[in-house]
Amino acid sequence: MSAPLYQSPKGVHDVLPDDHLYFSFIKKVVRHHCRRAGYRRISTPIFEDIEVFTRSIGGTSDIVEKEMFTLESKSGKKYALKPEGTAGVVRAYLEHGMQQMPKPVELYYIEPHFRYNRPQKGRYRQFHQFGCEVIGESDPAVDAQVIYLAYRINQDLGIADRLSLQLNTIGSMEDRVKFKEDLINFYTGKERSLCEDCKRRMLENPLRLLDCKEEDCQILASMAPKFENVICNESKEHFEILKEYLEELNVPYELNPLLVRGLDYYTHTVFEFWSKKEGSQNATGGGGRYDGLIEIMGGQPTPAVGFAAGIERTIEYMKEAGIRPPNKDAVAIFVAQLGLVAKKKSLTLINKLRDQGLNVVGAVGKDSMKSQMGLADRLGAQYSLILGQIEVQEGTIILRDMKKGSQETVSYEGIVDKMVELLGKNPLANKKLWEE
Ligand code: HAM
Repeated sequence: MSAPLYQSPKGVHDVLPDDHLYFSFIKKVVRHHCRRAGYRRISTPIFEDIEVFTRSIGGTSDIVEKEMFTLESKSGKKYALKPEGTAGVVRAYLEHGMQQMPKPVELYYIEPHFRYNRPQKGRYRQFHQFGCEVIGESDPAVDAQVIYLAYRINQDLGIADRLSLQLNTIGSMEDRVKFKEDLINFYTGKERSLCEDCKRRMLENPLRLLDCKEEDCQILASMAPKFENVICNESKEHFEILKEYLEELNVPYELNPLLVRGLDYYTHTVFEFWSKKEGSQNATGGGGRYDGLIEIMGGQPTPAVGFAAGIERTIEYMKEAGIRPPNKDAVAIFVAQLGLVAKKKSLTLINKLRDQGLNVVGAVGKDSMKSQMGLADRLGAQYSLILGQIEVQEGTIILRDMKKGSQETVSYEGIVDKMVELLGKNPLANKKLWEE
């Protein structure tokens, strides 16, 4: 086969029908759990005024420094494709006066995002996230509920056991200022042992020195001053209560004092879901509290907490776990026909069967019966209905069970009811979700 004339741009991909099974299933699970917990769905635009991101995510974060896709309007106004969901949700919250809504305001989203990073396994330039934001409540019970929601979704997707919840607190904004000074004092004189990125981070964002993946940087990070030395009592207490709530909810976690997250807006609680598989570096999701962000974006001081997970990475973990979502696209019935009269009659029959909620494909064209049956096989149809001239004359139809390879001639009149009886109105409606 010769190379196609066009290919998708580097780092972006098509979602082909097989992967859409996973996408649809994940969306269904997310919607189910979010609705049940009182969240309402929000969609923000694909692109925003660039400042929405630079102000919120932080000018020295990797995302803002290196990973934004920027656009310029004809009048010279700068925009960026959204690299994450929280900034846009906060902008919308303020723009639409959601402060007036009963608190906390609970929102969720399932959206595409864009980051201009080096494409590799699990890291794309266009990817999808599902996420949630709870705005207007500072109680650690909300942090616990947000983490529980993420954990519960992972459970229903069949991947919770493969992930470990990494948990940390990064204190208040003031704690962080103090801690940054401690880190700079510690790293001064040790610059030569740091990777190029960390040399830059030391000046711009020393907290990120702690979660660098380079071996030498990790050794230094393990000896660096600990956050717990500077953390204020309020933040300590928040974290202690959160841990108690998570224990009460039976959500297993691992304390990770080096977890800082790559976005600047976090305060107090931060968390990520990591693969338990050795050597795997990609988190499926993460989040935390961002009590200062709404004020930074021009609102009144308002506490908030949220998380987001990557859908592509979640699919990867589901595939590794051998989880196959139910195939709602599967063909239940293939209708084959021979001759013009039979073809006409089959058109009505196909639609009557579809109206009963059955997935039905009909042969079109003038193929021989042998090739029509071959197609039914390739489509994986459970049953075939075969209508020829004789059957039309006799008021019958042939019902073939494709798995058993057996067939019988039955009355045409009662065929719709018979198929509903055999398959159920929606044969693939499936309460056990991924187990089927
Ligand atoms: P984040 O950790 O930057 O957090 O992204 C969340 C998840 O999105 C990651 O764990 C990962 O699964 C997925 N993801 C990120 N970048 C890529 C990529 N290039 N390719 C594939 N997947 C990716 C946030 O975005 C925060 N807004 C989460 C949050 C919500 N915090 C509070 N509320």
